[in-house]
Amino acid sequence: MTQSMTQFVRDVQPDQLPDVVMPACPAVKILKGQKALVTGASSGIGKAIAIALGEAGADVVVNYRSGDPSEAVEKASHCGSRCYAHQADVSREEEVQKMFAKMLRDFSTIDILINNAGLQKDAKFEEMTLEQWNAVIGVNLTGQFLCAREAVKEFKRRGVNPKVSCSAGKIICISSVHDVIPWAGHVNYAASKGGVMLMMKSIAQEVAPFRIRCLSICPGAIRTPINIDAWKTPEAYRELMKLIPYKRIGEPEDIGQAAVWLASDYADYITGTNLYIDGGMTLYPGFEAGG
Ligand code: BGC
Repeated sequence: MTQSMTQFVRDVQPDQLPDVVMPACPAVKILKGQKALVTGASSGIGKAIAIALGEAGADVVVNYRSGDPSEAVEKASHCGSRCYAHQADVSREEEVQKMFAKMLRDFSTIDILINNAGLQKDAKFEEMTLEQWNAVIGVNLTGQFLCAREAVKEFKRRGVNPKVSCSAGKIICISSVHDVIPWAGHVNYAASKGGVMLMMKSIAQEVAPFRIRCLSICPGAIRTPINIDAWKTPEAYRELMKLIPYKRIGEPEDIGQAAVWLASDYADYITGTNLYIDGGMTLYPGFEAGG
């Protein structure tokens, strides 16, 4: 956390609460030898996950549709991992298939899929266009389906390689607290994330006997380039804190560290479940003072 941000947090914190201290987590190479694909990784949560996986020893494909993936590639490879960027729109079947074919040629297999690419096209419900609806469902839900399907084909073909991992593969869907919290003005987004939840659980049920794990991370309010502007005034920040019992915005690195652990063999018995990383946003914060 930068000095100015520490100051910002202090400014809006009620006096009686403790200062925010950010975690410091040294990188441990618990993913050495694994090959990972992170979709939507040129910025925000995807970029942080790609970097964390690289620091944990995985080789990483940084998928992106727009933006500049070079910093993600550079940082994900700075501890010695192999890493390259691949431009593809995950909502398009042929682009997804080409991306997997190249990864299998270059890295010979895939062990970890991070289904992260996602977008918002917000509108009042009755004004939401079919285009806005389809754009969000296409990337957030269909994109996760297309990538998961290609990953499962390869996980099943290869099976377990015990020198690399005790599972045949891992799919981590990046969902949202809005897979359970309804979100007015964002009906397409909430529908896509609700869809991801039962897609993930159904895939998990179907592939578990093949020692393939599938699960979701559900972030709350995370400091990403896309949404940080909405919280930059002290008033907006204070309003947001009413929704977060832990009283800080999440950092992309909070998600990156969890993704490393969930993808590793330390989490081998975890499948078909949601991990909410939200500072307590799903704890009905309206009841904080007793309701
Ligand atoms: C959205 C953010 C939002 C957060 C909490 C996330 O899924 O991407 O924009 O702030 O949910 O509402």
